[in-house]
Amino acid sequence: MKTVKDYIRTIVDFPHEGILFRDVTTLFADPRGMRLAIDQLLDPYVGQRIDKVVGLEARGFIIGGAIAHQLSIGFVPIRKKGKLPGAVISEEYKLEYGEAVVEVHDDAIQPGEKILVVDDLLATGGTAEAGNKLVERLGGEIVGCAFIIDLPDIGGRKRLEDLGYDIHALCQFE
Ligand code: PRP
Ligand code: ADE
Repeated sequence: MKTVKDYIRTIVDFPHEGILFRDVTTLFADPRGMRLAIDQLLDPYVGQRIDKVVGLEARGFIIGGAIAHQLSIGFVPIRKKGKLPGAVISEEYKLEYGEAVVEVHDDAIQPGEKILVVDDLLATGGTAEAGNKLVERLGGEIVGCAFIIDLPDIGGRKRLEDLGYDIHALCQFE
């Protein structure tokens, strides 16, 4: 039987020379792959209270929407700066070159809500750390952070675990 990793395509030299881009669109496009990924992302949290799923732009929206539907809970997007129409709170984080900002609507999460944070891929952990900070500034309690792919050599998992977050990833690429 195919594993989640088997459905992920690698594109060489995208978006820059030397990068092996792990492309989850081939996983999402396959009905068995999509179901396998969503089921496995949720495996560790069966029986736990989750009030909302938070998805990180952009591929975290695809996963987060499917999880929200599966659990019959709400979905909250964390977006890049300037995309959300209502009042927001913001967090800046470092990229390889320069900085970026992520935002969430300031009324999207209520204090004490149990939150699952999801994205397709964990590299440095900078995006997830900034997203987690936004959730916590609104009083949300992070149950876990779930990813399809972990790139362990880049160190994001250790960074987030050192901050006390529970990390779940379906596969790794060196
Ligand atoms: C990718 C990926 C994660 C993030 C991981 O998104 O989907 O969100 O990078 O990297 P990090 O762990 O080093 O923060 P990208 O920034 O390419 O944005 P996009 O999904 O909007 O294309
Ligand atoms: N984001 C950071 N590194 C990546 C990679 N190798 N593939 C896909 N997305 C990424």
